[in-house]
Amino acid sequence: MNTNNLNWWETAIIYQIYPRSFQDSNDDGIGDLPGITSRLEYIANLGVDAIWISPFFKSPQKDFGYDVSDYCDINPEYGTLSDFDALLAKAHKLGLKVMVDIVPAHCSDEHVWFEESRQSRDNPKADWFHWVEPNPDGTPPTNWLSFFGGPAWSWEPLRQQYYLHNFLSSQPNLNHANPAVREAFNDIARFWFDRGVDGFRIDAVHTINADSEPYKNNLANPEFVPGDLPQQQQPFFRQLHDSGQLNQPAIQLFTESFRAVADHYGDRYLMGELHGDDAIKASQTFTAPGRLHATYNFNLLHWVGLDVDGLKDAITKAIGAFNGTGRLSFAFSNHDVPRSATRQMLGLGLQEDQQQAMQLLLLKLESCLIGSTCIYQGEELALQDVQDIPVDKMQDPWGIEFAPVFLGRDTCRTPMVWSENAPNGGFSKANSTWLPIDQRHLQRAGLDEAQRPHSVYNEFAEFLKWRKNQPALMNENTMSEVMGGPNEIIFDRISEQQTLRCLFDFESLTATFTTK
Ligand code: BGC
Repeated sequence: MNTNNLNWWETAIIYQIYPRSFQDSNDDGIGDLPGITSRLEYIANLGVDAIWISPFFKSPQKDFGYDVSDYCDINPEYGTLSDFDALLAKAHKLGLKVMVDIVPAHCSDEHVWFEESRQSRDNPKADWFHWVEPNPDGTPPTNWLSFFGGPAWSWEPLRQQYYLHNFLSSQPNLNHANPAVREAFNDIARFWFDRGVDGFRIDAVHTINADSEPYKNNLANPEFVPGDLPQQQQPFFRQLHDSGQLNQPAIQLFTESFRAVADHYGDRYLMGELHGDDAIKASQTFTAPGRLHATYNFNLLHWVGLDVDGLKDAITKAIGAFNGTGRLSFAFSNHDVPRSATRQMLGLGLQEDQQQAMQLLLLKLESCLIGSTCIYQGEELALQDVQDIPVDKMQDPWGIEFAPVFLGRDTCRTPMVWSENAPNGGFSKANSTWLPIDQRHLQRAGLDEAQRPHSVYNEFAEFLKWRKNQPALMNENTMSEVMGGPNEIIFDRISEQQTLRCLFDFESLTATFTTK
């Protein structure tokens, strides 16, 4: 009974696939596109509306696909363009929209754009990246640090200049002040829209750099206290980033031109990943008319997890800015943070069945908030993080840099398992897989859980079916303030046809819904 005027993405449940770890089809221990295609029924049967696939473009894989060397081709280990077309056709047949993960802020240093640009100061691509003179004493132009550790500037001897990189030195930042760069991304958008994709998750959109000199130093963050978590102790967090490193006003040159391309194709969706010192305020700027449709909201993604009060506060802050709109997307887990099943249960000493109940509760909670919801592969199985990956098996460059103090992101990226008794849990027939399979995950294997009555997978699937018939959840994006006692989260979702009270009880780990 979805008789509303909302766009599909305003209420969508989006299932995030990390292609390297979803399903291997050619026995090399690495997931691939045909593997995803073979598992689409599992995703469609869950009742989600869309999939978002993390990058599968040509890439040296230094940051596992977020370092792209060709935006219009597939990395050979993931398959071919025709494999992608087959995936897309099957997904559409099953009623799933398909979003791909575009990385406009930086590319790989192996992209031909950078290979050319770094050669000299006067080649045709000379101005496609941020090339800046050293200070008179030879030091980098600013004190900016990279997210992954060390300075955000690296030296290029051929040009006798520094170039900017907010992540690895092999991920040079593109210069979006150059209209040719923006046009190149418009062409990339057309390439994928023409193939039929329904939208883009836009990676790290706040780290696009489009301003030119003078580059200003970041100020110290006066509120910095080294957190308990190794991740929060990194030098990056000792700085404020609003002097020009992040969330530059000129990024909107990119959002506006990219949106114009999307609008030309009709019902397509642009969801920007956006973090930063004041992400809610920035999200409002990024989703102003003519810019992105929505931003991917980090309020529920805190590395350490949130207690019930923390959850209330995080929801309240996001809703305060966006109530009445679908311009935000909530998530509890993704490929960059420890899984919610691990974070939210830290220190609670929950039994196995309580852990599953808690995970289901979180899934229901986020699916009842306004806007879209992103579910990360394995959340529907209540998978937990894998904390004991030996240092010599680690893959994430961020974790390798800081291990053993900070283990990086491998812990949430280990391969999905499908059948307890199949080799490598059904993920791959290879002798070894790119990250180890977690033996504990085998008791929660995907296809097994889809068969087991009352599994988290089946309970969530039931819930999503029910959700589609609730006018208050599907027809309008309006909710009341967040209420409830110390162990409860209560709010109303409100539409013309229905007011639905949603109550999440963190003591009994149950959700109750009443039409008022
Ligand atoms: C992605 C990360 C990636 C980074 C650099 C993000 O925020 O989600 O996985 O390492 O951007 O592209």
